[in-house]
Amino acid sequence: MQLRFGHLSILFFLLLAASPCSPQEREHDVAGALHESFLRCIASVSPAIADPSRLVHSPSEPSYPSLLNATIQNLRFASPRTPRPALLLTPATAAEVQACVASCRRHGLTVRARSGGHDYEGLSYCSVLPRAAGARSFAVVDVAALRNWQRVAHALPDDLFVKAATEPKLYAAGKRHPLVVFKSLFLGNCSGMVAEMSTHLRELGVKPGDCRDMSWIQSMLYFYGYTNGQPAEVLFDRTLQPKDYYKIKLDYLTYPIPAAGLAGLLNQIVEDRGGSIDIDPQGGAMGATPESATPYAHRRGYLYNVQYFVKWGGAANVSYEDGHLGWVRGVHGFMAPYASSRPRAAYINFRDLDLGRNVEGETSYEAARAWGEMYFRGNFRRLAMVKGEVDPEQVFWSEQSIPPLVVADAGEKQSESGLVSDS
Ligand SMILES: *[C@@H]1O[C@H](CO)[C@@H](O)[C@H](O)[C@H]1NC(C)=O
Ligand SMILES: *[C@@H]1O[C@H](CO)[C@@H](O)[C@H](O)[C@H]1NC(C)=O
Ligand SMILES: *[C@@H]1O[C@H](CO)[C@@H](O)[C@H](O)[C@H]1NC(C)=O
Repeated sequence: MQLRFGHLSILFFLLLAASPCSPQEREHDVAGALHESFLRCIASVSPAIADPSRLVHSPSEPSYPSLLNATIQNLRFASPRTPRPALLLTPATAAEVQACVASCRRHGLTVRARSGGHDYEGLSYCSVLPRAAGARSFAVVDVAALRNWQRVAHALPDDLFVKAATEPKLYAAGKRHPLVVFKSLFLGNCSGMVAEMSTHLRELGVKPGDCRDMSWIQSMLYFYGYTNGQPAEVLFDRTLQPKDYYKIKLDYLTYPIPAAGLAGLLNQIVEDRGGSIDIDPQGGAMGATPESATPYAHRRGYLYNVQYFVKWGGAANVSYEDGHLGWVRGVHGFMAPYASSRPRAAYINFRDLDLGRNVEGETSYEAARAWGEMYFRGNFRRLAMVKGEVDPEQVFWSEQSIPPLVVADAGEKQSESGLVSDS
C-alpha cells in the first residue's frame, strides 16, 4: 500500500497572504500596486533588510507559480479555479518574518503559514474549496482477525505497534474485495517480534519470514513507501512522492467497533477504488500524557484513530470529485454510532473543513467551539485566550484559525463584542 505523503511533516517558513480583507485597501487590488507598496513598507519597517524584493513574490513574477506549487500536495487545490494568495513571502530570519507580518498587518492582509504535507484542506495556500455530499451502502464479510486485533492493539507493550490498513483489492472479473494489511513496528529483533506477536496476536500467525530487521531510520523509509533500498536522504526530497487529488476525514474510537460495524466498514471500502481506511492504535505514550499538557487533547481513553482516505488521479477525472467526496463523507456518516462523541473528536493535523469554519469578519469563539472543541476539547478555550493576548486583531487568520477570547476581569465588565466575563 502506498504511504500517505504527509507522514513526515516538515514545516518551512513560507508565509502567505490571502486576499486583502479590509475594504479601504481596495486600491491594492491592482497586484502591481500592492507589490510596490509592500516592498516600500518592508523597507520602512526594517531598513536593515537588504533587497526586500527577494522576500516578496507577486503573481506576475516568474517565481510565483513554482513557489506556490512547491508544497501543494493535494491537486484539488492546484486547479485554475483555486483562489491564489495575493503575495507569497519567503522570509528566512526572525527579523524578516517580523517585517513581513508587520507589512501584512499594515496592508490589511491576513497571513497563512505555509504547511508541509499535512495541509489536507489546502488552508495554507488557498481560502475556499468545492463541496459535496452523498452516501453509500454495504454488505457482510468475515471480521474475526480485525476484532481480535482491536481488542489488544491499543494496549500492547510500548515496544510493539500494530496498525490495520484496509483497501479495496481488485480480483478477477472486476470484483473488489476488502483487503486488511496489519503493519507492525517492533523495537527489537525478529525473534523478539515473533515471540511478542504470538503472545498478543497469535491468530495472525506471524513467522520469522514475515519480519525484517532494519535500523529505525530504514523503518521510516519503509513506512513512507521507499522499499527499494533508497538512502535515507530521499526523505529530504519533497518532490518524489506522487501528487493526487484527495480528501481525508478522521475519527477517534473510545470503544472497539462491534462486529456489525466492522463488517459495514469493510464493505464500504470496496465502494470506491481510490478509498482506504487505516486504523492506528493510540495508547502508550499518547495515553500517558495528561490532556492539558499540550494542545492535543485526545489522550487517555482514546483507543484508536481511524483515517478515511480517498484519492483520485488524473486531471481528466476531476469530474468524478463529487462521487469520491460523497464516498468519504458517507463512510464518516456511517461511523457516527461507533466513533467518539461529545465531542466527536477530530485531529487538527488532519484538518477537515466539513466540521465548520470561521466566517471572515465575524470570527466568534462561541461559534468556533463547535469545531474547535472537536480538535482540542477543553484546551480550545485556553488556546483562544492565548490568541486573545497575542493576536487579537487576527493577522493570522484562516477558516479554522483559533478565534481570540478576551476574558474581562471581574468588576471591569465590558460590553464590546468578543469580550466575555469570567465571573
Ligand atoms: C503547478 O501545478 C499544476 C497542477 O499540477 C500544473 O498544471 C502547473 O503546470 C504547475 N505549474 C508550475 C509552474 O509548476
Ligand atoms: C534478540 O534480542 C534478544 C533481546 O535483546 C536477545 O536476547 C537475542 O539474543 C536476540 N536474538 C538474535 C537472534 O539476535
Ligand atoms: C477516472 O475515473 C473513472 C471512474 O472511477 C475510471 O473508470 C477511469 O479509469 C479514471 N480515469 C483516469 C484517467 O484516472
